[in-house]
Amino acid sequence: MKSGLTLGIETSCDETAAAVIKGGREILSNVVLSQIDIHQKYGGVVPEIASRHHIEAVFPVIQEALQQAQVGLDEIEVIAVTYGPGLVGSLLVGVAAAKALAFAADKPLVGVNHIEGHIYANFLTGQEIKPPLVCLTVSGGHTDLLLIPRLGEYEILGRTRDDAAGEAFDKVARVLGLPYPGGPQIERLAQGGNKEAIAFPRGLLDGESFDFSFSGLKTAALNYLNEAKQKRQEVPLADFAASFQWAIIDVLTQKLMAAAQAYGVDQVILSGGVAANKTFREHVAAEAAARGKELLYPPVHLCTDNAAMIGSAGYFRYLAGQRSDYSLNAVANLRLGDD
Ligand code: KG4
Ligand code: ZN
Repeated sequence: MKSGLTLGIETSCDETAAAVIKGGREILSNVVLSQIDIHQKYGGVVPEIASRHHIEAVFPVIQEALQQAQVGLDEIEVIAVTYGPGLVGSLLVGVAAAKALAFAADKPLVGVNHIEGHIYANFLTGQEIKPPLVCLTVSGGHTDLLLIPRLGEYEILGRTRDDAAGEAFDKVARVLGLPYPGGPQIERLAQGGNKEAIAFPRGLLDGESFDFSFSGLKTAALNYLNEAKQKRQEVPLADFAASFQWAIIDVLTQKLMAAAQAYGVDQVILSGGVAANKTFREHVAAEAAARGKELLYPPVHLCTDNAAMIGSAGYFRYLAGQRSDYSLNAVANLRLGDD
């Protein structure tokens, strides 16, 4: 069946998602069932609860995606599924569902790296990805700075040595008593705040390394809150949030720009949940423009986890001749370039 239709399936964390993509670029449906309200009372994702909900939701969500796209499973050309990185119990649900459908409907199966999926979200908006380029993937689990010399090839220039950028947002938001996920909450709180009010540390900014470190910033932010509490001083919340957010944005942007210059690329790409942050997008856009670089980032709803991006990445892998067999398994710590 040469329909060009991909069924994408994504269950790596707390979103059960399925999508139908045409030609790797056009979204026919994109269903995301979020478990955020379930995990919110625990202040973060509880792996066992996440996988149990994936089991309940995965087939209804797939059915909904097919229905919204008005296609039958028989019309699908290839099934693409995230097999890592992520929570192993969550990944397994999507992988098992994809294998079952591929077997039952006799369709080719392609395992997709979740991080690669985030990058391909940029393909779903008519934007043209033009390697060689430098890409920054910033999410709850990852902060990866990548050189993409050719489509499908990844060279890791730097990554976080401790917390991911999104994780730092989530942890500080949690201490502030804000619900999970913390990134959008801190962004909202930062509105109208003075980003220069509190001088938070910038990890690993000196020197040549493209690696990141956010644990020092997180500790400084938590110490600031504790001290204020001990002294019974009120925390200037907007200033605190704006300064904290800016410390992350500043480091991410400086390293991204330094990498773009060092490797002489004309295009830079943002991807992952933190790329939904408006202040971040605007700042990178200004810095990229000042250096004559083209910047791409996905629309907000395609920055956070979804299956459309998995369908896109899977389709291009399929076109490149890649196939997975029924031995496909979840790989919790899968790295780009490993597969
Ligand atoms: O890509 P994603 O949906 O899931 C992972 O693969 O991790 O990213 C989720 C992360 C969370 O840490 C969340 O706090 C962060 O992205 N995030 C944001 C924003 N929206 C989501 N961080 C900062 N500003 C935002 N607007
Ligand atoms: Zn993600």
